[in-house]
Amino acid sequence: DRVRKIWNFGGENSLSKRPESEAKAIPDLSFDELKMLLQKHTPETDAALFRYSNSIANQLFGNKCYVRALVEFSNVCRKNCKYCGIRKDMKGVRRYTIPDHELMALAKFAYENKFTSLVLQSGELGTETRISWLCDMIKKIVKETNDGLRIVISIGELPHKDYKALFDAGARRTLTRIETSNPKLYAKLHPKDHSWQERVDVLKDQSAIGYMMGTGVMAGVPHQVPGDLANDILFLRDMKASMIGMGPWIPSPGTPLGDPFLAQMTRITQRLEGRPWDRSDLKKWYNEDLLKQTLRMYACARIVCYDVNMAATTALEVISPTGRQQALRAGCNIMMPNITPRKYRDGYEIYTKKAEVDGGGADTLIPVGTIARVDKVAAEGGRVVDWGVVKDPLHHL
Ligand code: 5AD
Ligand code: SF4
Repeated sequence: DRVRKIWNFGGENSLSKRPESEAKAIPDLSFDELKMLLQKHTPETDAALFRYSNSIANQLFGNKCYVRALVEFSNVCRKNCKYCGIRKDMKGVRRYTIPDHELMALAKFAYENKFTSLVLQSGELGTETRISWLCDMIKKIVKETNDGLRIVISIGELPHKDYKALFDAGARRTLTRIETSNPKLYAKLHPKDHSWQERVDVLKDQSAIGYMMGTGVMAGVPHQVPGDLANDILFLRDMKASMIGMGPWIPSPGTPLGDPFLAQMTRITQRLEGRPWDRSDLKKWYNEDLLKQTLRMYACARIVCYDVNMAATTALEVISPTGRQQALRAGCNIMMPNITPRKYRDGYEIYTKKAEVDGGGADTLIPVGTIARVDKVAAEGGRVVDWGVVKDPLHHL
């Protein structure tokens, strides 16, 4: 069967010398097949699965990896997602919005450093002032960079008129995660006033306006079962996402989902090791399993959604120092180095103190070091950075 074929895939470097071209996309993988592929079996089945998805990526992109500069331009948010460290009710978050001149300087930095795409990300804030300000900024950025940057907006759920206005201003891609394809699970992860259906409608609206629509999910959230992940892949396929951003759930302290998890970890550590839990223990809990689970999601998305663009997300770096490199070997073809200035970083802790987990090195020395670091991570992931514009998936042409 098809699952066996994937698990037996030798790949170019294996003894069996299978040609790369033998790895084919399988858009009609069934729920059961996906569930099988997404579950933990043996290190060998994982390795074969990743070889298979990596071979598809190689056929599409060669050994290339594309980059998008990420600016987290504001952490002001009107929503209260239960997993998020910058949710509205989170106390002690210094709220910021990067002022015009600084944002423009960052866009120019991206442009001058060869980036061809800029991701503008923020919490959700659909006020008239925010939207018209953002439209103005996008117009200015497009103008002052000679239309050299494709603008991606990752700013949450907004009404049609706002997404239309932003499109007219020059934004061309969106990134709005559905978080989970299961409406019941969605309801557990969000307060009552957040609606799964509304988010789906927003994604459809973005596509209809003409955006290259991007979405994705979190893997490993509380209450999630393997079948949910299989359905997530089918959802991404059926929505014809152009871009996929997926990552592991990270228990964020002070959030309604993070705190009970962390409390449980404290109890377990106390029982097993007779000492209180501390933050450095997180490394242990961000285990191989969670990383592999995320990598299996990338692999399946590559097999099913074929030529979609897929990012090796930053959250991976929190759970493993080589997380993004492994993602680039499992089907991912995009990296989004964060160029948000250091002084704002503490304010954008969606997951947890990233620096405390990864030692502070990760892309934080902006602008110094970004480019070298991108090159290094790509190389370690077996890829070479291509600064050009990445192709859009054919299903949109
Ligand atoms: N762990 C992992 N990802 C998270 N996000 C928010 N909070 C967390 C967390 N604790 C992700 C969500 C959101 C994106 C901006 O960040 O998927 O869409
Ligand atoms: Fe706001 Fe996004 Fe965080 Fe939800 S995930 S609270 S919308 S920043």
